[in-house]
Amino acid sequence: MKVWYRCSRCGYTTEASSWLWRCPKCGGPLDLIIDSLKLTLSERRDLWRFSSVIPARPVVTLGEGYTPLINASFLGKNTYLKLEYLNPTGSFKDRGSAVAVSKALEFGANTVVEDSSGNAGISIAAYAAAAGIRARIYVPKDAPEGKKSLIRSLGAELIEASSRAEAGRLAIESVRPGEAYIGHAWNPWFLQGTKTLAYELLDQLGHAPDAVILPTSAGTLLLGLWIGFNELLSLGLINKVPRLYAAQAQGFASLYEKIHGDYVREPARLADALRVSNPPRIEQMVKAIRWSNGDVLVITDDELLQSWKFLLRRGFIVEPSSAIALSGYVKLRENNYLGDDEDVVIILTGSGLKYIDIMSKI
Ligand SMILES: Cc1ncc(COP(=O)(O)O)c(C=O)c1O
Ligand SMILES: [Zn+2]
Repeated sequence: MKVWYRCSRCGYTTEASSWLWRCPKCGGPLDLIIDSLKLTLSERRDLWRFSSVIPARPVVTLGEGYTPLINASFLGKNTYLKLEYLNPTGSFKDRGSAVAVSKALEFGANTVVEDSSGNAGISIAAYAAAAGIRARIYVPKDAPEGKKSLIRSLGAELIEASSRAEAGRLAIESVRPGEAYIGHAWNPWFLQGTKTLAYELLDQLGHAPDAVILPTSAGTLLLGLWIGFNELLSLGLINKVPRLYAAQAQGFASLYEKIHGDYVREPARLADALRVSNPPRIEQMVKAIRWSNGDVLVITDDELLQSWKFLLRRGFIVEPSSAIALSGYVKLRENNYLGDDEDVVIILTGSGLKYIDIMSKI
């Protein structure tokens, strides 16, 4: 498989033979261009079932991927829940981390550096631990204690910054030779991991869903789905990309703003994992929503709390930032955006087991 980096802004193209996380010419986000893509499913029941379309070897793996897809007829006849919170570290981020850390190892990194609202940090810390390399993780100081202590327990160095944006700045400034900045919001390899979700949905459902509803902040899941479904389209395995519906937290809805304009800015507090306010790949995120005929929904804390409780009372131990997708689903149903016979998938992205302390306060 031959792979090139191509800058999504200036078009600069170069062979993907060393670690880059952004364009060396203009600083824009890089895409990966893969030569002669072909899908052959392996016998594995994890992310590497789709190895034939992943431009990395499984140098490090914790058994990520192949999470359950269950029919949720209590919501609607053809509604499914994709239990991404059952990944090894309790979030979909493990798909991206497995591929990105494997690639960083292949390129000789001895340390991985990441900034995160929590889950990506936990995930990168776990894969670094599994690989026996160092991890340095920058998080906003108000990240949930459960997430911060998990990062430390995994053996990573944890650095607390004054905000989510400051965590990003500090992480980038800190990188030294031999270290790989993962920066999942920028990283093209990370998206090669999250794209497997599209392949997996097709594999599990037998056909592409009509609509997928997901929480969105920096866009790594949205763009992974967009890349994956487009590859499936070009491989002739599906005939249209599902409508992608992004649910965002009020006050942190940069994608909504870019598409629909101004909105209520009072910041929601519950969706702590969805606080990236300047996603570097915003132009690509807009394209994914527009070209898939999807939309963006802004969710308040009250709406989110209802969905979170609804899921918990049915046994789904998810975190608030996951429950936001159910709030998006409710809005879409109320406004007749989803046909009765359509197959709809709600992605439950993160585990509530990191939230026990917060749950008892709400
Ligand atoms: C549980 C959970 N869901 C959804 C997201 C949103 O993912 P992204 O920022 O890639 O859009 C995150 C990001 O941290 C998350 O932790
Ligand atoms: Zn460029």
